[in-house]
Amino acid sequence: MPNILEVKDATIRFGGLTAVDHVSLHHTGQEILSLIGPNGAGKTTFFNLLTGMYMLDEGSITFMGQDISKAKPHERVRAGIARTFQNIRLFSELTVLENLMLAHPACNQERLLPAILMGKGLRASRKRVVEDCEAILEAVGLQDLEGHMSTSLPYGKQRLLEIARALATDPKLVLLDEPGAGMNNVEKDELTAVIHHMTHKMNKHVLLIEHDMRFIMNISDRIVVLDYGKNIAEGVPEEIQNNQDVIEAYLGKTKFFEEMDELEHPHGQAPDGSGGR
Ligand SMILES: Nc1ncnc2c1ncn2[C@@H]1O[C@H](COP(=O)(O)OP(=O)(O)O)[C@@H](O)[C@H]1O
Ligand SMILES: [Mg+2]
Repeated sequence: MPNILEVKDATIRFGGLTAVDHVSLHHTGQEILSLIGPNGAGKTTFFNLLTGMYMLDEGSITFMGQDISKAKPHERVRAGIARTFQNIRLFSELTVLENLMLAHPACNQERLLPAILMGKGLRASRKRVVEDCEAILEAVGLQDLEGHMSTSLPYGKQRLLEIARALATDPKLVLLDEPGAGMNNVEKDELTAVIHHMTHKMNKHVLLIEHDMRFIMNISDRIVVLDYGKNIAEGVPEEIQNNQDVIEAYLGKTKFFEEMDELEHPHGQAPDGSGGR
């Protein structure tokens, strides 16, 4: 099987700063791939290059066999790339279901939008959009909340709604930018289940950015590590945890070590049984 995504030497500069510096990576389509790295490493910028929010200064992006390096953002959405944002961006004046309907391809035509949202005419189209969106809400476990205002949802559910909205565009590749940020452990377990469901039941290809090491090591089939815009390591979770360059990249960034420690000694147990540092 050819790779669904092939990025070669992706590079973008902001003035003197090379935020993404000759990064190459691929997604086989058969894996959950994660992108990690310290704050400011260039992860979100890399997503912005994939979605066309920023254009490459150098390099190329091939998606499902097509060179999309110069494609506009809406063309990449149509080609099947969807994303969520690091900060939640929902339409606060709309319900859960309406937030999804807006993202549905059938609503992307201005002509259809008011009719579909207001329910005027075009009943068949509206019915199909509603059914599609309800199926997605069910897949992420939000089916009982479709009539609620999006911002009335608990934080973890708003994050799932963001994913649902990305799914409503009918993508092949879903880019998740820190989907677990601010979630508690129960919500993170729900998120893990949703990502597995997307991958194994809905045939979506997932590329995600995350900070939570336990979550990342658990869910990823393969991990790519960025530091100062450069790809410094790539491998299965165990290789990444033991990679010297990765450990050094995170030096002084205590969160990584706290979380690594937590991975090795769950429940706050130090190796000597004393309960921690
Ligand atoms: N539009 C921009 N203009 C200038 N600098 C930017 C812009 N976007 C990102 N950067 C810089 O690029 C670097 C990488 O940022 P980012 O991709 O957000 O990092 P990460 O998501 O890994 O934390 C940072 O130094 C950031 O300040
Ligand atoms: Mg970021």
